[in-house]
Amino acid sequence: MDIVRAIPEMRAWSRRRKAVGETVALVPTMGYFHQGHLALMQAARRHARRVVVSLFVNPAQFGPAEDLERYPSDHDRDRRMAAAAGVDCLFVPAVDAMYPEGHQTRIDVRELSLGLCGAARPGHFQGVATVVAKLFNIVQPDTALFGQKDFQQLQVIRRMAVDLDFPVEIVGHPTVREPDGLAMSSRNTYLDARERGTAQCLFEALELARRLCASGERSCGRIALAVERFLLSRPGVRIGYIFLGDPGRLIPVREVTGPTLLALAVWIGGTRLIDNVLLEPGPAGH
Ligand code: PAF
Repeated sequence: MDIVRAIPEMRAWSRRRKAVGETVALVPTMGYFHQGHLALMQAARRHARRVVVSLFVNPAQFGPAEDLERYPSDHDRDRRMAAAAGVDCLFVPAVDAMYPEGHQTRIDVRELSLGLCGAARPGHFQGVATVVAKLFNIVQPDTALFGQKDFQQLQVIRRMAVDLDFPVEIVGHPTVREPDGLAMSSRNTYLDARERGTAQCLFEALELARRLCASGERSCGRIALAVERFLLSRPGVRIGYIFLGDPGRLIPVREVTGPTLLALAVWIGGTRLIDNVLLEPGPAGH
């Protein structure tokens, strides 16, 4: 596996691959790999001849009171895991190479960035869209893969790629879960043993909603209320948001009449976790 740090070198790497007719898939990450990242890397192999993984903890997507300083990091372990997953190139740029002095351009995917996580994290999706656009320009991938756990992020990136004419196929990959259902996330490492037990409630809440829907419940208000009651019955849980709405436009809906996104942000102690499910309408008239 090649390890590339400089932007011109990364460009040259991709150019060489393309010159011999090879396709390139990019998996953008912030490192501290878990099974979710590995699943993206493996899926990337099915989409292109060469797989590039970027590892960059992007300061532009963290707010001043957020966890940039304590975001988990272990580059040696990441390198071993990426190599074992068959990655061809690990791109690890420095912060001052990505954001040299004087950098000021930001990409704003306006409406999709406003609600859900965007409401509590102003500027977050600007930071994400900006760094992903930069990575697309540097790596020039044919395909890029993102986890569906960050559903809003995936929609923001899809929109950005269309709006800015990036010739990149955006692939969403199903969320990879722990045996008890907790979505894999580097931030799960912040949970102590008791909080880790409680964290299962996100998946259980999604399952509760799915069952309600399957048994014919269509009212988003009633589903949201059931989810809220369930989450608040767990000790130490605070709700960031419970969103039920159109999965493409991320606007709320009143009734589940087609595929409907249920997305949650939940605080377990000092850790904010997110998860989501696509609800399908069950048989009507129950
Ligand atoms: O999902 C992430 O890890 C990050 O938001 C991403 C897409 C790598 C951009 O920094």
